[in-house]
Amino acid sequence: MSKTLMLYYTFTGNTEFVSERMKELIPDLTVERLIAENEPPKKGFARFLLGGAEALFRSDPALFPVFHDPNKFEKVILAFPVWAGTYPPAVAALFKKAPFRGKKLYIIACSSSGRAEKAIDSAAEALSENELRGSLSLRDPLSDRVGSIVRIASFARFTEEDE
Ligand SMILES: Cc1cc2nc3c(=O)[nH]c(=O)nc-3n(C[C@H](O)[C@H](O)[C@H](O)COP(=O)(O)O)c2cc1C
Repeated sequence: MSKTLMLYYTFTGNTEFVSERMKELIPDLTVERLIAENEPPKKGFARFLLGGAEALFRSDPALFPVFHDPNKFEKVILAFPVWAGTYPPAVAALFKKAPFRGKKLYIIACSSSGRAEKAIDSAAEALSENELRGSLSLRDPLSDRVGSIVRIASFARFTEEDE
């Protein structure tokens, strides 16, 4: 069985930055980006209203195919931006489309407030058939790259050494 799969969704690049650093730090990490078919507009306040409402009401944005089967890995790292206090619709779609169980689970959440506990708890609850081993909350990592890299590196080491 391969070791670790990182699945992530990003809308404005912060979580992508995290996935790139994780890949550099863990060379045999398999990384897949979740692509949503429908997303809110990239600019303007409407994106918060539309995206937030979709997250709250758990609308299903139709995910492009998920290539890697999480069930074939020992550990799964899930990374996403917080939307309206919870995980975004693309991640909700993943839970429906590629359900997995019995994995060591690690969650990374990016937010502008730095308060991601509720979103992490909700995702862990949706994935309760897995064992949450650790989580990392990052405040807009693109706004503090150096500070974020230190925390990402420490989390990467933890996921690697966690047995
Ligand atoms: C639709 C939408 C809703 C958001 N809701 C929240 C929120 O409830 N709390 C928060 O701290 N940040 C919120 N944010 C900010 C993002 O979580 C934050 O900027 C994150 O780092 C973005 O990650 P990304 O660039 O990978 O998409 C929201 C952003 C969007 C677009």
